Amino acid sequence: MFSFSFADQDFLARRCVWVNGPVIVGAGPSGLAVAAGLKEQGVPYVLLERADCIASLWQKHTYDRLKLHLPKQFCQLPDFPFPQDYPEYPNKKQFIDYLESYASHFNIKPQFNECVESAKYDEACRLWRVKTVSTRSSEVEYICQWLVVATGENAERVMPEIEGLQNFGGEVIHACDYKSGENFRGKDVLVVGCGNSGMEVSLDLCNHDAKPSMVVRSSVHILPREIFGKSIFELAMFMLQWLPVWLVDKILLFLTWMILGNIEKYGLKRPSVGPLELKNTQGKTPVLDIGALEKIRSREIKVVPGIKRFSCGMVELVNGENLEIDSVVLATGYRSNVPYWLRETEFFSMNGFPKAPFPNGWKGNVGLYAAGFTRKGLSGASADATRISRDIAKVWKEDLKQKKQKVPTHRRCISTF
Ligand SMILES: Cc1cc2nc3c(=O)[nH]c(=O)nc-3n(C[C@H](O)[C@H](O)[C@H](O)COP(=O)(O)OP(=O)(O)OC[C@H]3O[C@@H](n4cnc5c(N)ncnc54)[C@H](O)[C@@H]3O)c2cc1C
Ligand SMILES: NC(=O)c1ccc[n+]([C@@H]2O[C@H](COP(=O)([O-])OP(=O)(O)OC[C@H]3O[C@@H](n4cnc5c(N)ncnc54)[C@H](OP(=O)(O)O)[C@@H]3O)[C@@H](O)[C@H]2O)c1
Repeated sequence: MFSFSFADQDFLARRCVWVNGPVIVGAGPSGLAVAAGLKEQGVPYVLLERADCIASLWQKHTYDRLKLHLPKQFCQLPDFPFPQDYPEYPNKKQFIDYLESYASHFNIKPQFNECVESAKYDEACRLWRVKTVSTRSSEVEYICQWLVVATGENAERVMPEIEGLQNFGGEVIHACDYKSGENFRGKDVLVVGCGNSGMEVSLDLCNHDAKPSMVVRSSVHILPREIFGKSIFELAMFMLQWLPVWLVDKILLFLTWMILGNIEKYGLKRPSVGPLELKNTQGKTPVLDIGALEKIRSREIKVVPGIKRFSCGMVELVNGENLEIDSVVLATGYRSNVPYWLRETEFFSMNGFPKAPFPNGWKGNVGLYAAGFTRKGLSGASADATRISRDIAKVWKEDLKQKKQKVPTHRRCISTF
């Protein structure tokens, strides 16, 4: 017989909601794509989002000059192509408009301002219990059979602890709060990190007459975004159909060397492992160059080694050099926040990613799913979403058939969606 566990005292203190379908956590592209897939198959769901809008990463935490790095056909969500008149690489505004149209086309209405604080599987009643806190401090507990984690690979900023940073005195921001170089005109800015964010922030600073120095503490793969007019990503995907990763890496690096030349002389050391293998094994994304390299060659972006310590208005580098700087942009990356709220260790590892690599990391046990943790950007999110929505719909429809025969009124005891 169906029963709830009342082991938690606070079970009675918060509003409880029975969800007749899955709870999806996160209304970014992954969560939206899962919701759309479920909607298409008539499965009800609840979509919880901590922010007050869909795709909050894109709407609130990206810089103005951002464009998609991959051609649009690799970034569209299932069953909804980009408008014909969109360029090959849509900009941030176009991508957000596309996502808004996606949500309205599939009539997706997330519950905004609800942050999931904890989720755990209740063995006693064999259901997931998902606790949220809203911006108005009200607390809700959702009870459901399926839980879809779609909180993203980039849910939280990484803020490194660097000696003396608290004594620096100037402006220090993370790249997720950087909008444009407008406020940095004429300033000496230290950009910490040389991933895609660090490179593009440095380029944007140059374009606004600021003076960026970019910290490269280890190594980085910089590749041209296009080779002979073809997207390098598309080319890599094409070759991977026939060739092993190591060989595709070698070909990509050879073509890159022909186009970009030797970049080590600018302080940009290449990793010993190839770009695709590095992405697959360590999740480190190669940089697709859209102009920063030219500014590095012309010394408008200065490449500097790792940081030793900060002091008032200064930074000391590991090579002993001291730089006077006005501001710091920490382009030091992001991390998943799953370990902070999901009480589960079988499917997800300590770093907040599923333990099984793509394409097997989308489904766990007891109705747990993960969308958008493939390290393959939007194309990976779409692949996950399609699998998840089909899988849940199959079981949901079977359940419905059985329920029609039994009419289980007890499951309606709390409240329904
Ligand atoms: C600057 C930048 C540029 C990028 N450009 C590209 C690109 O061009 N192409 C590409 O393929 N990928 C790109 N990416 C990767 C990017 O992560 C994906 O494109 C996409 O945003 C992933 O979608 P998602 O829904 O999985 O995660 P997100 O977009 O991060 O969405 C997750 C959502 O979950 C919500 N959330 C998190 N925690 C909770 C919680 N506890 N409770 C409730 N809600 C929660 C967040 O508020 C967010 O809205 C970029 C990333 C960054 C940072
Ligand atoms: N247009 C686009 O499509 C676009 C634009 C921006 C970002 N993105 C995507 O967003 C994701 C995140 O990119 P990201 O560039 O923000 O993060 P990232 O790829 O994780 O890069 C972080 C960088 O910070 C460096 N770093 C971290 N801590 C440091 C410290 N204490 N001192 C010096 N350097 C430090 C890292 O160096 P180490 O390598 O030595 O650790 C690395 O160079 C990626 O998937 C990326 O492709 C896409």
